[in-house]
Amino acid sequence: MKNLIVANWKMNPDSQKKAEEIFNGIKNGASGAGAEVVVCPPFVYLSALRGLVLGAQNVFYKEGGAFTSGISAVMLKNLDVKYVIIGHSESRRYLKETDEIINIKIKEAIGAGLKVIFCVGETKEQRLAGEKNIVLEKQIKLGLQNIEDYSKLNIAYEPIWAIGTGDNCSVRETQESIDFVRSLVPANVRILYGGSVKSENSGDYIKKAGANGLLVGGASLDAEEFIKIIKSAD
Ligand code: PGA
Repeated sequence: MKNLIVANWKMNPDSQKKAEEIFNGIKNGASGAGAEVVVCPPFVYLSALRGLVLGAQNVFYKEGGAFTSGISAVMLKNLDVKYVIIGHSESRRYLKETDEIINIKIKEAIGAGLKVIFCVGETKEQRLAGEKNIVLEKQIKLGLQNIEDYSKLNIAYEPIWAIGTGDNCSVRETQESIDFVRSLVPANVRILYGGSVKSENSGDYIKKAGANGLLVGGASLDAEEFIKIIKSAD
């Protein structure tokens, strides 16, 4: 199973020209990499970017019709998008996504033939209260309820306190959490780590903590840095 290195650009950059520049930089450096590389730009740039595997950062939970602002899984599939991030903590927080909505989205995405990067993770308070595993188990059980086909599923363990903070999770704690997540799903599901990944720590998450890949936010907007992260997974 190849490692999966995913760029999550979030709501960046602010123009298509800049998106193309970063994307082309990544494309030039990523050729020949041992890992599978996926770039998830904002929806508006998806059709302008070609030459690397694309992912979307979210999807609507209904199939199509009168849902103003919605983007369906089938629309993404028809745009040749291969992956979709579902359940990111920022979508849970700012879009008020519940485990139930996330479950429907995962079913829609798999039904449309998309591969899923399903995000789970605990807050700082939950971690300090010793509730991490309870939170992870609940998110995974509810998010994957009544899903039988795991062949398109990847899970990203992203401790919320580590996202965008520079306070990345230690290798030991990441390994424990990844092992716990792995114990809840079939062995063919790739388990990624995300949260303040940079080229200085990326190799350790793969080689020491046993992650099958990385979900990279801030550092994926710098093509050179992201290429180093991709190569560290070889
Ligand atoms: P970060 O974001 O790498 O900027 O911490 C990771 C993510 O939110 O997926």
